[in-house]
Amino acid sequence: MVTGLSHVSIAVPDLEAAARQLHDKYGLSVGARMVNAEQGVRLAYVELGAAKIELMEPSRPDSPIAKFLERNPKGGIHHFCLGVDDVGKAAHAFAQNGVRLLGAGKPQRNVAGEPIAFLHPGDFLGALVELEEHKG
Ligand code: CO
Repeated sequence: MVTGLSHVSIAVPDLEAAARQLHDKYGLSVGARMVNAEQGVRLAYVELGAAKIELMEPSRPDSPIAKFLERNPKGGIHHFCLGVDDVGKAAHAFAQNGVRLLGAGKPQRNVAGEPIAFLHPGDFLGALVELEEHKG
């Protein structure tokens, strides 16, 4: 079911400043800037081969990321993301084990249009987990 680590996601107050820092200090290059209107985030990825770092800043004031940044003004790790072969099936199987899904199980999509879901942090050692569907 779980096929790998997709990304670790960091919420930042300023995506461009974050990208500059990662480039200048670590030589990392941050890819295309994108907006996921549904999730209320402007984001970009650092490709690291097996997994990615996702950088997210709020794209609107009522973004869930804006609330996170109120509590963590300098930014911080927001979630990590596991790849699964089928989000619906994985979510159902985990729910059978008592895992709570966020967003009332409403279908959600990432910026690439892939199905995603979020698991309650209380059911994964205190960490917010995203599931992302990777076909093939
Ligand atoms: Co993510």
